[in-house]
Amino acid sequence: MLRKISTIDFKSSNTTSGKTVLIRVDYNVPVENELVTDDYRILKSIPTIKYCLDQGAKVVLMSHMGRPKGKFNNKYSLIPAGEKLAELLEVPIKFSEDCISEDAIDVSKNLKDGEIHLLENLRFYNEEIENNSDFSSQLAKHGSIYINDAFGTAHRNHASNSGITKHFATKGMGLLIEQEMKFLSEKLSKPSKPLTLIIGGAKIDTKIAVIEKFLDLADNIIIGGAMANTFLLAMDYKIGMSLAEKDKINVAKNLLKKASKKGTNILLPIDFLGELDSFGSGKINVSDAKDIPENMICEDIGEKSIKLFTDIISSSQTLLWNGTLGVAENPNFSVGTNRIIDAIIENQLTSIVGGGDTVAAIRNYDNSLIEKFSHVSTGGGSCLEMLSGKKLTALEMLKK
Ligand code: 3PG
Repeated sequence: MLRKISTIDFKSSNTTSGKTVLIRVDYNVPVENELVTDDYRILKSIPTIKYCLDQGAKVVLMSHMGRPKGKFNNKYSLIPAGEKLAELLEVPIKFSEDCISEDAIDVSKNLKDGEIHLLENLRFYNEEIENNSDFSSQLAKHGSIYINDAFGTAHRNHASNSGITKHFATKGMGLLIEQEMKFLSEKLSKPSKPLTLIIGGAKIDTKIAVIEKFLDLADNIIIGGAMANTFLLAMDYKIGMSLAEKDKINVAKNLLKKASKKGTNILLPIDFLGELDSFGSGKINVSDAKDIPENMICEDIGEKSIKLFTDIISSSQTLLWNGTLGVAENPNFSVGTNRIIDAIIENQLTSIVGGGDTVAAIRNYDNSLIEKFSHVSTGGGSCLEMLSGKKLTALEMLKK
């Protein structure tokens, strides 16, 4: 069983002072010019931090950022994330330039109740991704209670979320992981029906397991994005110059076959918006799926597909969405994705969204809309793994 933080006592038994809690967060956030450009993961870490502080604890935070390959690289420093957190919490935050130095451990040991200490990027040491036991035992010196709230990293078997767990008698999951599990696992195991899955983005590979799992659970599976082109090829359509994964045509054929056996309704776009001749500077063109010109690049779903998909959404009770329906970062080709967002919100169904690109598309369209979804996951790979029914390594370690 995963322990909830509500069952943990954060006060020391012989003094009135609080215990020091070491929290693994996922602050792997986009940064440009030393400023965080998307603070969603930081925002979602706040309820756990506040909860611990309200219980009188001292808080030490650790995270990775990017893939710096085991050496210091200013581009991957957690300083911008720390500054954003301090701004959101409106409190100063202590920062250590190294996660395992004696100096950093001293800062943690000398924290006063209510103080927060952020450690520099764990992946400045290769030992983090190697799940090195000396490294995790050094990290463990920062606190007496361990909380994992880094859902985005929960599918990794690293020192800060796996090896470290054996050093703590008192350990559990944070409020973010609790919420992610409630929606991505519990709610979807007994969904209000009809259940619709919308799956988009470019690559089939990472999403095959989710589609397979939902062939049994979903009533409808809507496929969009470049992934739809591969399915159209599998159905012998011509897709012009559009992006597709030719080596995955058989995978798509297989999924279509299984869906028809199980009676799951698979919906592909019936028309497209795109460009002629060149990506990014071609003439805009609209075409039905059955007669896409040889020189067309499909980049968004067309109006007929929008109608088809939004009708399905309005007849659904639960909706799970991962992956945009077109090149949503280009305003010319974000219309399909934006209309889907509108339809989900208008219909007030239980809506669960995952995947960095999908979340970014919602925030680009209208940041305030994020709150209107039942759950917007902070996970990328971890979200897909949980949706496909796999056990997440770090959560399994936390149970031991
Ligand atoms: C993510 O952004 O998906 C997580 O932070 C995990 O990062 P990783 O894929 O580099 O392990």
